[in-house]
Amino acid sequence: MKPVELLVIGAGSRGNSYSRYTQAYPERARVVGLAEPRDHYRERLVREYEIAPERVFTDWRQAVELPKFADAVIITTQDAQHMEPAVAFAQKGYDILLEKPMAPDVESCRTIVETAEAVGDIIFAVCHVMRYTPYTKQVKKLVDAGVIGDIVSIQHLEPVGYWHHAHSFTRGNWRNEAESSFMLLAKSCHDIDWLRHIIGQPCVQVSSFGSLKQFRKESKPSEAGEAKRCLDCAYEEQCAFSAKRFYLKALRAKKFSWPLDVITTDLSEEGVIDALRNGPYGRCVYECDNDVVDHQVVNLLYENGATAVFTMIAQTEQRDRETIIFGTKGELRGNGREIVVYDFLTEQKTTYEPYKELEEAAKKANKNPHGGHGGGDFGIMDHFIEAVAQRDPRLVLSGPQETLESHLTVFAAEQARRENRIVAVKELYA
Ligand SMILES: NC(=O)c1ccc[n+]([C@@H]2O[C@H](COP(=O)([O-])OP(=O)(O)OC[C@H]3O[C@@H](n4cnc5c(N)ncnc54)[C@H](O)[C@@H]3O)[C@@H](O)[C@H]2O)c1
Repeated sequence: MKPVELLVIGAGSRGNSYSRYTQAYPERARVVGLAEPRDHYRERLVREYEIAPERVFTDWRQAVELPKFADAVIITTQDAQHMEPAVAFAQKGYDILLEKPMAPDVESCRTIVETAEAVGDIIFAVCHVMRYTPYTKQVKKLVDAGVIGDIVSIQHLEPVGYWHHAHSFTRGNWRNEAESSFMLLAKSCHDIDWLRHIIGQPCVQVSSFGSLKQFRKESKPSEAGEAKRCLDCAYEEQCAFSAKRFYLKALRAKKFSWPLDVITTDLSEEGVIDALRNGPYGRCVYECDNDVVDHQVVNLLYENGATAVFTMIAQTEQRDRETIIFGTKGELRGNGREIVVYDFLTEQKTTYEPYKELEEAAKKANKNPHGGHGGGDFGIMDHFIEAVAQRDPRLVLSGPQETLESHLTVFAAEQARRENRIVAVKELYA
């Protein structure tokens, strides 16, 4: 197969992650074009992928004006900047891999899906990477094979992690709803989509509660006084959310990638301290302009009567999601790596470790076979590239209609939280 040619829009964290796939699998895909306004990030990718100068742009609009010159486009701009390029590149006939969430409002999500479908013969996938991990594939296979009978209910936990929440959702890009999107959409649209994927049923009704409880001025420890930045704070050493401790520790451990590379491009001690002194990531977590919730629960009712309970929570140790699936014949527990199935009839437990073989093979080959997000990043690339090469949209597990449906469930849940009522998902289709 000839490598699939990719145009990358946005060379930030995600654009970089998906591009890396082409280094691991150069025979399957290559980056032939890039649009990115920030010099450092654009030049880094141009160097790494040897992109021809006439295919390098500072704005996606310059690329879309040209006659189509790649097979597919990967859109990894920020949440509110997805709709315009998605529509424009679809109309130009590009296959599209679009980051989640599709867009921060219902109307834009609908417009994207309607355009992709109206154009017709394009492959369209949304980066719901959780669907594509070896772990999820194993859970789905077990559930579909009926090992626990029919699903009655699911309990699903998303432990965001105390420092990840501080980094991304208090100090960082997704802290403020007006600038990005609400928390359930920004972070947990993956989980609501994942539940829909595992249950295999549309969600019909939702209720939800949640608030911003901790990362606000009212919760600031009195010992921190008026300090606005960790570098100036007398309480810093006692504070679990100290930016100084967190980022300097990463620097000293030479962990130069995410999240350290988000706060500065100068990865020297002086560069990091300068970012802590002047940039958003050095701010006190109780003194930021954040407004997204730090805990939220959602109850979901599916078309066949099955239910799910979802919890998103910032105040946890950093770890994988945890799920219990309660079936008519057994129970399945998963923690992102290990799956344990308990059978009611035999009273036996069976354990599955979907990464074990992959990791042993990777060790031997001395390479990382599946990228970040538990293998989801390379997993989605595998499926998308194959779908493009074969012209087969069935290879995409997160296509337009099911993604729109799970996004609308997220919007319904947020509406339920704000209006303090049960919301029928079909209200969002009106
Ligand atoms: N699938 C996942 O698990 C996952 C994880 C994290 C983030 N995301 C989503 O991925 C998207 C990108 O997140 P990120 O962390 O990479 O953000 P980022 O800010 O690091 O990258 C976005 C890039 O888009 C560039 N950009 C802005 N305007 C542009 C334009 N006109 N033309 C071309 N590029 C332009 C920015 O300069 C920036 O480099 C967001 O929607 C985010 O919610 C998804």
